Amino acid sequence: MAKISVIGAGNVGASCVEAMLHLNFCSEIVLLDIKEGIAEGKAMDMMQASKQYGSNTQIIGVTNDYSKTANSEVIIITSGMPRKPGMTREELIGVNAKIVTSVTENVLKYSPKAILMVIANPMDPMTYLALKKNNLPKNQVVGMGGQLDSSRFTYYLAQAIGCPMSDIECMVIGGHGDTTMIPLIRFATYKGIPVTEILSKEQCEKVVADTMVGGATLTKLLGTSAWYAPGMSAASMAKSIVMNENRVFPCCCYLEGQYGENDLCIGVPATLGKNGWEKILELNLNEEEKALFKKSADATRNTASILKEMNLV
Ligand code: APR
Repeated sequence: MAKISVIGAGNVGASCVEAMLHLNFCSEIVLLDIKEGIAEGKAMDMMQASKQYGSNTQIIGVTNDYSKTANSEVIIITSGMPRKPGMTREELIGVNAKIVTSVTENVLKYSPKAILMVIANPMDPMTYLALKKNNLPKNQVVGMGGQLDSSRFTYYLAQAIGCPMSDIECMVIGGHGDTTMIPLIRFATYKGIPVTEILSKEQCEKVVADTMVGGATLTKLLGTSAWYAPGMSAASMAKSIVMNENRVFPCCCYLEGQYGENDLCIGVPATLGKNGWEKILELNLNEEEKALFKKSADATRNTASILKEMNLV
């Protein structure tokens, strides 16, 4: 069984560890935070629940001791500032870029081959930063955003249709931002039936709009950004990697020509297996979807260019 480390023991990091405990596929999970005692406390609390989860996963909490993360197969990076109501993910770049830079340098000292999964926002530029700053092979770095946005898309579709969420298949591609994500309504199905044949045009437009601001809606309700669905999305992606399941996830990958883009990390459907992201699936987008992807890519590249101004890449 696998060893996984989670950096940042806040809302998302702790939820992700709890979700992995439920999924029961790790021998060891290391939870690391910069704040004294928080990771140790959450790890101990979860260990005391673990027998009741039917799990023997060892959860070890540490304060800034990266040596404990040695030989991790996957490292999930949640360390960073979350959004406050009214903020965009892009506004977090100044603070979070510095955190992601130091964290990736530290984890790679002890686990040079680990697959890095980036959650800290703005996620697409942070994925690009983790990849470029550390000169890693492209498949070794993946961003979690598309899977979360797709879970929200699933939720809103199931609500509109009035069906169980398990009967919905759908994907969100493009950037992980309120205005950059692309919920692919034309590809969404209810048990194989296109949802566009079930819902009216207005209903489809509302589902897409609600999905795009899904994170902001929660931030407004909670006063900070959400954690259950982000934690679970990262946990299922990590499981696909370490169990070499090769399942398809909409996730942030480095593009070299796919979808007409180069030198950019952005959300596309890709298989996740033991080498990280393994194969990008090229969807047959229509002209309107292609234009949305181009617009999303331009905006994502524009945000990532701040990293150059900060002399980080
Ligand atoms: N090293 C380790 N941990 C750090 C560091 C660092 N350099 N800097 C901050 N942290 C820790 C904080 O101490 C905190 O415990 O990261 C944790 C972040 O937790 P929260 O503030 O609860 O934020 P959370 O909701 O988990 O979101 C984390 O994920 O979804 C994104 O936008 C979100 O960027 C944010 C990230």
